[in-house]
Amino acid sequence: MFITLEGIEGSGKTTQMENMVAFLENRGHSCAVTREPGGTPIGRKIRSILLDPESKGMDPLTELMLYMADRAQHIKTVVLPAMKDGKIILCDRYFDATLVYQGMARGLDVDLINNLHNMVLDGLKPDITFLLDLPPEVGLSRAWKQINSGDRTGSETRFENEKLAFHEKVRAGYLELSRLEPDRYNVVDAVQSAELVQRSIESVLSSFIK
Ligand code: TMP
Repeated sequence: MFITLEGIEGSGKTTQMENMVAFLENRGHSCAVTREPGGTPIGRKIRSILLDPESKGMDPLTELMLYMADRAQHIKTVVLPAMKDGKIILCDRYFDATLVYQGMARGLDVDLINNLHNMVLDGLKPDITFLLDLPPEVGLSRAWKQINSGDRTGSETRFENEKLAFHEKVRAGYLELSRLEPDRYNVVDAVQSAELVQRSIESVLSSFIK
């Protein structure tokens, strides 16, 4: 089973990822926990280029190609092998993020992105995608609090530095994808407390792992 977690900055993915792993492992499932960008040694180098605030002059096409390079390496060396081992794969962001951030928010051609994905994904789509949805002003204020208090690294703030309008496009993009694929997407209200978000996620997971 392949599960992905998506959401704007400050949506609480990290906490919910930890909760999901604990929930599934307590029920005897073996999990592979991973992320994009940065799920491989090469991907971690790509991640640092992508998220470094000093990369602010990055051309959108350069950005797209770096996410694709990270993904190609990640699928071949992490996701497919974990799938072969029969693990539940839990991935913090996946191809939807490219459709939304580079396509709908940056304005790159979505057909171009889909064509690249045809080459890179090897047909690998998630079974379930959780979208932690919340207004960008709430998410960004949470994200900056974590960064300023040192809970999150300040060396990865290129996207947090984007204007509010950019984050609004990202949120709208994710909601649009969730409407296009209602069977795969589970939209969770992430303004709620972490405990309530966790409960909603667990009730969906329970029905899938039965
Ligand atoms: P995160 O790991 O903290 O969620 O940060 C990753 C950042 O990269 C986040 O701002 C979203 C962005 N991103 C894209 O723009 N395109 C992508 O394809 C992915 C996977 C992430």
